[in-house]
Amino acid sequence: MMAQHGGDSEIEGLIARMTLAEKVGQLTMLSGDLVKTGPVTTTVTAEAITSGRIGSLLNVWGPERVREIQRLAVEESRLKIPLFFSLDVLHGLNTVFPVPFGEGCAFDPELWEKTARVAAEECAREGIDLTFAPMIDVARDPRWGRIVEGPGEDALVAARVALAKLRGFQGANLTDAGSIAATVKHLAAYGAVRAGREYTSVDISERLLHEVYLPPFRAAVEAGIAAIMPAFIDLNGTPMTANARVLNDIVRRQWGFSGVMVSDYGAVAELIVHGVARDLTEAAALALNAGVDIDMMGNGAYGDGLPQALERGLVTIETIDASVRRVLTLKAKLGLFADPYRRCGPARAAAETRKARRALAREAACRSVVLLTNRDGALPLRAGADRIAVIGPLADGKGDAPQAQDKRAIVVRDGLHAALPKATLAFAQGCLVERGNRAALTEARALARDSDTVVLCLGETMGMSGEASSRTHPGLTEAQCALARAVLAQGKPVIVLLFSGRPLVLPDWLVAKAGAILAVWFPGDAAGEAIGDVLSGHVNPGGRLTMSWPVDVGQIPVFFAERPTGRPPLPEEHYSSKYLDMPNEPRFAFGHGLSYSRFTLDGLRLDRAAIGAGDTVEIAVDVTNHGPCAGEEMVFLFVRDLISSITRPALELKDFGKIALAAGARGTLRFRLGTDDLRFLGPDLRPMLEAGAFDILVGQSARAEGLLQARFDLVVAAGKVA
Ligand code: GLC
Repeated sequence: MMAQHGGDSEIEGLIARMTLAEKVGQLTMLSGDLVKTGPVTTTVTAEAITSGRIGSLLNVWGPERVREIQRLAVEESRLKIPLFFSLDVLHGLNTVFPVPFGEGCAFDPELWEKTARVAAEECAREGIDLTFAPMIDVARDPRWGRIVEGPGEDALVAARVALAKLRGFQGANLTDAGSIAATVKHLAAYGAVRAGREYTSVDISERLLHEVYLPPFRAAVEAGIAAIMPAFIDLNGTPMTANARVLNDIVRRQWGFSGVMVSDYGAVAELIVHGVARDLTEAAALALNAGVDIDMMGNGAYGDGLPQALERGLVTIETIDASVRRVLTLKAKLGLFADPYRRCGPARAAAETRKARRALAREAACRSVVLLTNRDGALPLRAGADRIAVIGPLADGKGDAPQAQDKRAIVVRDGLHAALPKATLAFAQGCLVERGNRAALTEARALARDSDTVVLCLGETMGMSGEASSRTHPGLTEAQCALARAVLAQGKPVIVLLFSGRPLVLPDWLVAKAGAILAVWFPGDAAGEAIGDVLSGHVNPGGRLTMSWPVDVGQIPVFFAERPTGRPPLPEEHYSSKYLDMPNEPRFAFGHGLSYSRFTLDGLRLDRAAIGAGDTVEIAVDVTNHGPCAGEEMVFLFVRDLISSITRPALELKDFGKIALAAGARGTLRFRLGTDDLRFLGPDLRPMLEAGAFDILVGQSARAEGLLQARFDLVVAAGKVA
């Protein structure tokens, strides 16, 4: 008889009745075949389910398919324990939103939550109980392909993304209709892989781990995240999948995480390849003892390895039971004991709902667009009957298989046609994403020559970003550069759209000669409409970069939260921190993004010049929209701790906010900083507060020249370090 509601006593009763094989089964997750997210080494069989050797599945969804498999577990297995079904849903399921790296540029936690909620509701009708999202890996190296999944270079932004997505996915209660379990990943510092190369080792200081990479995960744990996924990488020599110090000591014991830890795909068995385990038995023991509850596609690591490990005394039955208990508790919280088919509802949403979701996708795509340059008001495009050439291999928004180009909707052309109905639009591919084509180039050159304006669609295909997609030169391919030169040579205004999953290294001549450049990322289902909205001026772009864009690969890593050196860069001083052949500054700073309006900040003021422990300081700054159109201005609040026991970053992001203003209007943005915001990790890596002077810096990005500055003192009772 299956436990009805999975209460604690029922779970204990279940555990007491489970055989070792059934316990290990609950700790085993296998992949279905609807989508491939890693090497397929083990297949799912009905017998494996009815014998209780599988506890959860990934990459299987669809109400009928899930119902069919779940029925095997809850009707034909001995203990009738329900499975849970999981999938990577990083930017929507049936409604596709901008990729996370693009959506992050909206700097809008409310929007981030809304899109996650829609994704959760769609998952909860497709049989999906848990998603492996949000990915909250801070990253500062554009060569790494997984930037596309993440929040950019700053830990505060990563934490805000984590909390917003957790609220959206998990709702108020995991048993609510439309709620699914969220998983923050990949713990920790995966974004710091050496040289940006996928899966390589990570060597960072303990300070950087605790100041930058752990805080977003801690925020998610404190907010009640259901699951955590350790990263593939070894952190300072210890593979995260076997890292008991981080997983158990810090995350479970110090932070109090009681949820489930699910390994990454095959990561338990890969401990052998890392060289820390001789065989699956040792690998299983290391992972389980480190706190990893579920072995995802581990090639039998837990299934075969744990019984051996128990026999050899490498693990205890209590440790196994503790993991089983956490998995069964998650299933109970998901309501699966009460109703194993609760998320197998009719997948088709009502027409009204689909319409609202499409509108949200369009809003999210518009808000993710970042206007990088706009010379001489090249944008917005006039509404006249201009001849607009849409050129480039990314005009379909994806740049997938070239032969599909002619069949696939040319979303940029179609979106512009909807936004500018009087314009005459024509399309030429010009080249393939990674290969030139003489005839196509000739056709594109001629079309540019015969047009009034060119919209040039360049960048990466979706396949050039993401997992296992690091690039040594994260820029435009030679074929695309040749196309851009040919188009620019026609002397017409050229608007460049960059589709990408990361910051791109751009040639100086393109930045200098393009009329305007926009980062549009991979905008999702509403790509065409959103691009049409922004280029036509129906929407005033407000996106801001969550990651610095280097001038050249040689600058990597370049990010705003660098610590000052003893010899800061001084142009006239030879002996100062700079390159001989390149500026220190990125081409575009964190927070960069233009508007069709001109905004200015002034009147930075604090409500007090000093604060003591437990106090807050109110910060206000005035924002003016000089026009010509209404728009939103994003303002970033940084602090600089001028004197402290440890060198502190020159800029620490403490908050961000936006204000919507009509043309000609003026408004005030207010922030509050408390002493808790001024704590830092002292020499012993313990949080401390230190009296002294701080600068508050407020600006439209992290670019030093644009920051307003005000000083205040933190006064801590003599000798008292709070
Ligand atoms: C992949 C990814 C991870 C994903 C998992 C399941 O290898 O590293 O982010 O959640 O496998 O698809």
